[in-house]
Amino acid sequence: MTEPTTPPAQVPLPPTPILETARLILRPLEARDVPATQRIFPRWEVVRYLLDRVPWPYPADGAATNFADCKAKRARGEQLYWAITLKGGDDELVGRIDLRPDDGDHEMRGFWLDPQLAGQGLMTEAAEAVTRFAFEDLGWDELWVTNAASNRASSRIKVKQGFELVEIRAGQFVFGPDDREVWRLTRAAWLARGG
Ligand SMILES: CC(C)(COP(=O)(O)OP(=O)(O)OC[C@H]1O[C@@H](n2cnc3c(N)ncnc32)[C@H](O)[C@@H]1OP(=O)(O)O)[C@@H](O)C(=O)NCCC(=O)NCCS
Repeated sequence: MTEPTTPPAQVPLPPTPILETARLILRPLEARDVPATQRIFPRWEVVRYLLDRVPWPYPADGAATNFADCKAKRARGEQLYWAITLKGGDDELVGRIDLRPDDGDHEMRGFWLDPQLAGQGLMTEAAEAVTRFAFEDLGWDELWVTNAASNRASSRIKVKQGFELVEIRAGQFVFGPDDREVWRLTRAAWLARGG
């Protein structure tokens, strides 16, 4: 018997929308973001807690290679990529946030920010906008995300957003092995918090 070839209901994803928060504009990632990515991303404080599929040391063409991969996934409707930019700024990328349906890995969202801008609540703001989009516009029922247990800032964002810690697995990160926290937020819980 032939296996069904119908993709999961969430794929292909719609075009990446522009999302606006109090201090940020999240716009679709573009080729012009490669130089800013190559300048900001390859730093130990940005990459250390990311999954070890991130190449390290980061090659000179790392951002360009990654962008080509993002573009292909985007074209297949598999993942959405936002450049995080400062409202009232020069429209230059200062970080990135991604969203995709669960493929079993429970890694539906990823994000990183220019370390110079950390600690101001900006990624929580971006994560809230993307969460709203996932639940309200895409109609998803759940959001699953993970982080290295040592990555307390990332963990804290999940707590602030109302995620529930459901599992701890073994993980391999750029800095080495660590516990990998697995979190879930249901649309029902998110709505109960007032969206
Ligand atoms: C993780 C990251 C996105 C956070 O961005 P940010 O804009 O600084 O995050 P926010 O300010 O919205 O929230 C961070 C929270 O963690 C807290 N925090 C930061 N460092 C912490 C630490 N070492 N221990 C405990 N809490 C910490 C902050 O105080 C803040 O909580 P608060 O609002 O209650 O004070 C940013 O540090 C980053 O890009 N890191 C590198 C990439 C990365 O690790 N991505 C996530 C992979 S899962």
